[in-house]
Amino acid sequence: MTRHITILPGDGIGPEVTKEARRLLEEVAQTLGETWTLEEALIGGAAYDQTGHPLPPETIAKCKASDAVLLGAVGGPKWDHLPGDVRPEAGLLGIRKQLGVFANLRPIRTWPGLLLASPLKPELLDGVDMVIVRELTGGLYFGEPKQRLDGGNAVVDTLHYTRHEIERVVRQAFEIAQNRRKKVTSVDKANVLESSRMWREIVQETAAAFPDVTVEPILVDSAAMQLIQRPNQFDVVVTENMFGDILSDEAAVLTGSIGMLPSASLGSGGPGLYEPVHGSAPDIAGQGIANPLAGFLSVAMLLRHSLGLEAAATAIEDAVLATIEAGHRTRDLAGHDSEPVGTEEMSALVRHEVQRRLNG
Ligand code: NAD
Ligand code: IPM
Ligand code: MN
Repeated sequence: MTRHITILPGDGIGPEVTKEARRLLEEVAQTLGETWTLEEALIGGAAYDQTGHPLPPETIAKCKASDAVLLGAVGGPKWDHLPGDVRPEAGLLGIRKQLGVFANLRPIRTWPGLLLASPLKPELLDGVDMVIVRELTGGLYFGEPKQRLDGGNAVVDTLHYTRHEIERVVRQAFEIAQNRRKKVTSVDKANVLESSRMWREIVQETAAAFPDVTVEPILVDSAAMQLIQRPNQFDVVVTENMFGDILSDEAAVLTGSIGMLPSASLGSGGPGLYEPVHGSAPDIAGQGIANPLAGFLSVAMLLRHSLGLEAAATAIEDAVLATIEAGHRTRDLAGHDSEPVGTEEMSALVRHEVQRRLNG
């Protein structure tokens, strides 16, 4: 069957990591005897520079007509002075909203070979395996009004949710937990926010339909502490858009680098959106040293969730594990005593391992 995948390289290291992810997709397709069309489209600062808008209509149309979308990253200092509605980040928020991908799955696991790449004690990190389910198309990011007031002397951002928006993402989290260790931690700020009190109510209501899943509501400030104090207690963590953004970068520290964190954003039907959790990393862009593995692991999630190719997804994850076990590291993961490999070399090493698995 012909499948259509749209690739949105974006800015900074985005094009560097999607170039390698594209190679991976092409090789996997060829080995499996599948026909996948891989088409690129503009987003972010690159789109703004060429068209005056960070999310051109052609990009939206291409993405909607695809089976899946793979995104690199957007943003950078070049565009930081722009008004909010044409910043590169507005393009990313726009495509998430356009595709209706309300559930952002951010799996966080530690890799045995990388325990020393984290600043935390290795004994804390052993066995960490959680997935943050971040609500992605509502909450503080999208609520209206969102504007300057009183001639610039006041400002408002709005945290708005409908019952429906909370119910669907919470339900998704419970369904994921059923196939894992059957524990949902719901993170909120119910001691202060009305939105969190409604979120908590809905979590309790939903829990009734999942008697085999235990549920624990915790406050976001405490969650931030426990994520580094006792990370292996977490299985599925479900939370509001901005809380999830912040906690997932914190959780990246457990894995050794944000360059290891993939994500899948899913809606109800329609194409999924797959992207590394990291940004455009302007500090290392253009140097050929970015870690391509968050992109590779995002490709694995794409194959699993949008194309139903579980075995190929597992082959990629196993190949990443094997390459790390063999001692290869990009600079973000390397200690002072080891010589890091570049983006292309890491990509080639992992792709070789993927082929061994698919052919074996
Ligand atoms: P960042 O994730 O881009 O970088 C944070 C740090 O992590 C930097 O030191 C960077 O070099 C390092 N890093 C990130 N990815 C890496 C990789 N693959 N390999 C090696 N090192 C890596 O976050 P930031 O610096 O806060 O943001 C930079 C820009 O990216 C901003 O414009 C921001 O808005 C944007 N951003 C975009 C996305 C996205 O497109 N999904 C996500 C986060 C930030
Ligand atoms: C992420 C990023 C984005 C977000 C920004 C770039 C809009 O930080 O994907 O985590 O906050 O969602
Ligand atoms: Mn983020």
